[in-house]
Amino acid sequence: MSLLCHLNWLLPVSSVSWLIYALFKRSNRQKYKDSFKDKVIFITGASSGLGEALTRVFHKFGAKLIIAARNIEKLNVLRDELVENYPEGYRPTPLELDLSKIDTIRQITKSAIDIHGNIDIIINNAGISYRGAIISTDINVYQNLMTVNYFGQIEVIKAITEHFVTIGKGTIVGVGSVQSQISIPYRSAYSASKHAFQAFMDCLRAELSSIQPGIDVLAVNPGYIRTNLSLNALSSDGSLYNKMDETTALGMDPEIVANEIAAAIYQKKKELFLSSVTHRLAIILRYLFPNLFFILMSKRAKKLT
Ligand SMILES: NC(=O)c1ccc[n+]([C@@H]2O[C@H](COP(=O)([O-])OP(=O)(O)OC[C@H]3O[C@@H](n4cnc5c(N)ncnc54)[C@H](OP(=O)(O)O)[C@@H]3O)[C@@H](O)[C@H]2O)c1
Ligand SMILES: *[C@@H]1O[C@H](CO)[C@@H](O)[C@H](O)[C@H]1NC(C)=O
Repeated sequence: MSLLCHLNWLLPVSSVSWLIYALFKRSNRQKYKDSFKDKVIFITGASSGLGEALTRVFHKFGAKLIIAARNIEKLNVLRDELVENYPEGYRPTPLELDLSKIDTIRQITKSAIDIHGNIDIIINNAGISYRGAIISTDINVYQNLMTVNYFGQIEVIKAITEHFVTIGKGTIVGVGSVQSQISIPYRSAYSASKHAFQAFMDCLRAELSSIQPGIDVLAVNPGYIRTNLSLNALSSDGSLYNKMDETTALGMDPEIVANEIAAAIYQKKKELFLSSVTHRLAIILRYLFPNLFFILMSKRAKKLT
């Protein structure tokens, strides 16, 4: 009986506090959405998957978008669709960019800055994946992944960072992966390129904090996202893998990931992990109990052969 009395008392209190919490969250969400209004955001890899979702989300938030990728037709289609569906937003500007052509990047980045005269946020999202065994993989595939996922990103970031230092502010977002922190078998080229990018981002954050504290650096490390990443992945001979992996198909909704990234930018987070408990545990194991991690990965490799 006394337990019931307690419950009677608890129920309204808990629902009222839940309501206050929900309202608070809602107003916070509105605040972060409003914070992107009129901001110039440069998104790479906007023609597909997460980049496309980021484009949709920031367009709705009222940002001025510069959207880049190799496939300019897809970017034009996306721009036209956004302009038609949300005519109140700014018209996004498509820009052709191939991160594997390193010596073209600086000029393209400069022209991106010239479009609105400045850039507030750069989201380095473009990337390519890989599936294959080390012993049968061409060195060209390793070079290709490293160029697109690492050297290309650096060249974009360096050009934009010069601009950010000049104007005294800016946000640099890099999309890594859980594989920025742990390598899994048959993903060597991808994991290595993402590890390299993560190492670069940590140095960048530290160096910029000392020369220009107005610049924020955010590394995003997602688990599986439901995109065409595995379809577009390279195989060991450099051809397209062209299969939808089940893990990717069952991954997170790209629009949810895009919203989480927007919230993290607003909160000036330095790192954002969007992954399952298993992925987080694996990262902890790698650093605290490496031998256990090695056993688990060797089991995983056996399962895949
Ligand atoms: N999906 C996942 O499970 C997952 C998990 C963790 C991290 N990520 C990361 O999320 C990011 C976005 O990938 P996604 O999942 O959205 O895959 P996606 O659908 O394959 O999109 C990749 C994007 O990168 C662009 N891109 C590829 N090569 C390029 C190049 N040489 N130059 C310029 N742009 C290039 C593609 O555009 P064009 O082909 O038009 O150039 C496309 O817009 C990547 O960095 C990826 O590593 C994905
Ligand atoms: C993903 O791949 C499918 C099959 O090739 C294609 O129809 C679809 O347009 C692609 N989506 C994006 C966003 O590129």
